[in-house]
Amino acid sequence: MDSAPDSHVLGSLPLGRRAFLAGLGAFVTTQVLLPRTIRGNDLSPDLRPLRLGFLTDCHSREEKGAPQALEQAAQLMNSLQPDLIIGGGDFVHGGFYDSGRVMDRRWKVADTFLKKLHTKVEPIIGNHDFYEPILQDRSPSPHDPRWRWKKYFGLHETYRSFSFRGYRFLMLDTVKVVGGANPYRGWIDAAQISWLDRELRRIPANQPIILCSHIPFRTSLRDSFGPFVGPSPGRVRVLNADSVLSRLKDRPLALVLQGHVHINERLQDNGVPFITGGAVCGKWWNGPNMGTWPGLGMIEIIPSDGIKAPSDERISWNYMNLPGAPATPLISQVA
Ligand SMILES: [Fe+2]
Repeated sequence: MDSAPDSHVLGSLPLGRRAFLAGLGAFVTTQVLLPRTIRGNDLSPDLRPLRLGFLTDCHSREEKGAPQALEQAAQLMNSLQPDLIIGGGDFVHGGFYDSGRVMDRRWKVADTFLKKLHTKVEPIIGNHDFYEPILQDRSPSPHDPRWRWKKYFGLHETYRSFSFRGYRFLMLDTVKVVGGANPYRGWIDAAQISWLDRELRRIPANQPIILCSHIPFRTSLRDSFGPFVGPSPGRVRVLNADSVLSRLKDRPLALVLQGHVHINERLQDNGVPFITGGAVCGKWWNGPNMGTWPGLGMIEIIPSDGIKAPSDERISWNYMNLPGAPATPLISQVA
């Protein structure tokens, strides 16, 4: 099969009335200072500047020129000299649809790519990273479909948190295997919610949080590209996102980073920026997806040293195309 079912789901639809283009993502630099206070929390003075690389939806495979493009992606990311890279999931292509034998070959392509990066990658799991999650009768497999991702990255769980340069990263697993015609949905399971409650008891109240998710918590996809972009809303967003966001409502949530829908998008909801980071593979290695070309992103966070921030934005976001593509527009919306 040439492209994933996702590409048929999303299609190429025109921009709708609520979306608007807000400049070009490529190589626009903006100086943005993180405010000293977020949601009434005076932030920790230990924060340091952070250059965060974000590459998501690589969909590694042997065909369609993917290995060569991934090589370009590695060179581009290395040239940006990030302090840390967030890998937004879907490192490989086909997890819900292709055999383990095929997926093993694709993990080798991903491995070649990831080994070329000079900076540590902190990964989250995407639906395509799953390994034979569905049986022939379309029911969920009794085996752990996350084992391949866990083994590759040497992680025992697909969700975790860590501190880096004073920021607290929450890395979530947003994929629930349900089987049937729409074999997964965006969902945070009860075990993660319990874990999150425990984590929040030990995370200092003044530590800004960066939440990383494969399936979006917030996206304008339906508004921007038509009311019907898939057979199931759970294919394009986390259905119980509010059960996480409500737990963070009094915390200094600085940023939500998301992947999965392969568009370059920046939303703001209740003051929180939600960035959907395009896709290294664009439209599953078939050119641009709804205007978003193959590329990757860079986030720059500069803690305020007392100077008033020049804008309401907390972070800067730049989406950069792989060589040879025209600039990708940014879909921007403030709720
Ligand atoms: Fe993807």
